[in-house]
Amino acid sequence: MQTLEVQLGERSYPIFIGESLLTKPDCLLPWIRGKQVLLVSNSTVAPLYAAGILQTLRDAGLAVADVTLPDGEQFKDWQHLNLIFDALLQARFSRKVTLIALGGGVVGDMTGFAAACYQRGVDFIQVPTTLLSQVDSSVGGKTGINHPLGKNMIGAFQQPRVVLADTGVLRTLPARELSAGLAEVIKYGLIRDLDFLCWLESHMEGLMARDPVLLAEAIERSCRNKAEVVAADEFEQNDIRALLNLGHTFGHAIETGMGYGAWLHGEAVGTGMLLAADLSCREGWLTAADVTRVKRLLERAGLPVAAPQGMTPEIFMQHMAVDKKNVDGRLRLVLLKQLGQAIVTDQAGTDNLQATLAAGCAGALT
Ligand code: NAD
Ligand code: GLY
Repeated sequence: MQTLEVQLGERSYPIFIGESLLTKPDCLLPWIRGKQVLLVSNSTVAPLYAAGILQTLRDAGLAVADVTLPDGEQFKDWQHLNLIFDALLQARFSRKVTLIALGGGVVGDMTGFAAACYQRGVDFIQVPTTLLSQVDSSVGGKTGINHPLGKNMIGAFQQPRVVLADTGVLRTLPARELSAGLAEVIKYGLIRDLDFLCWLESHMEGLMARDPVLLAEAIERSCRNKAEVVAADEFEQNDIRALLNLGHTFGHAIETGMGYGAWLHGEAVGTGMLLAADLSCREGWLTAADVTRVKRLLERAGLPVAAPQGMTPEIFMQHMAVDKKNVDGRLRLVLLKQLGQAIVTDQAGTDNLQATLAAGCAGALT
């Protein structure tokens, strides 16, 4: 088992990464402060992994309830968030309750947001079960839900007490979800870790084949990057944490524009990162060879490298106008000065942006 720490003063917490963590009570129980626990999962993950955790909690003498959400990004909304509050109130759980999020990023974001709101804030624990959630969404305390007009627009910062990333659960993950997670892994290489990017180029086939040693290393290196960024800028106030949004402005436009769930978050981010690389090239920072390198790595990770049919530059622009990074109506994008170095800028040329979007929608990125 590997242990990292997210260093946030009194809100610091560990990330445990390793095989079969879910069967180890010592990884979970010490992080529960009260006597009440609500396990939140979804209709796909609960049948696979909830029973063992519920047994561990009951054997420890805790008062336990569980709630199973419908599975899908389209259910990451107010209506389904309320199911968590219903379960908490039906169980008459107090401010001392701990919520456990067992699932991918959707369950994690919703459970964390419920924990931030219930009785003005209670403990929660992240047990991420997708690659994407193990390398990104479970770490850093961003929680929330979608609005029909904008992705992740309603939310709160709420740090978990601990993150348990059991690499064994990735064996049941569908191939498309593995690829989606690799998009966020590649992101760390592109924004701040050129060595890691080169390592990924050397090991992509092994990662796609789910080599457990390679996957554990990819998760550890991703979480190390994320933990450093979050420690430097927890509340995204000085454009350090915003760099984690490489590809997300384009990606969120795809997710919202196509309807939540049509494209996976990681797929949209993957194509978004290629759009960002293309624009960075038009701005004179990346070479065409750099963009081809990004495209090739995304393809090897099984990710789409063109915008979905139905997206147009106009639809992109309409949704990109509703982005949390924008200030006073000015579009702010994360672009690449070079591979391994990202920046936030509001200076990208309008003509260049239009050319990138047109190329992306025509499937003509380098
Ligand atoms: P997800 O939660 O929808 O999970 C993907 C699919 O895999 C679901 O069908 C799920 O039921 C299934 N699944 C999960 N674990 C499984 C397992 N071990 N075996 C079999 N099936 C399994 O999607 P995701 O990619 O994990 O997360 C995407 C969400 O995370 C988006 O809503 C995105 O906005 C959010 N996100 C948040 C942050 C953050 O910092 N909070 C960062 C990145 C993404
Ligand atoms: N996934 C972006 C962030 O955590 O800031």
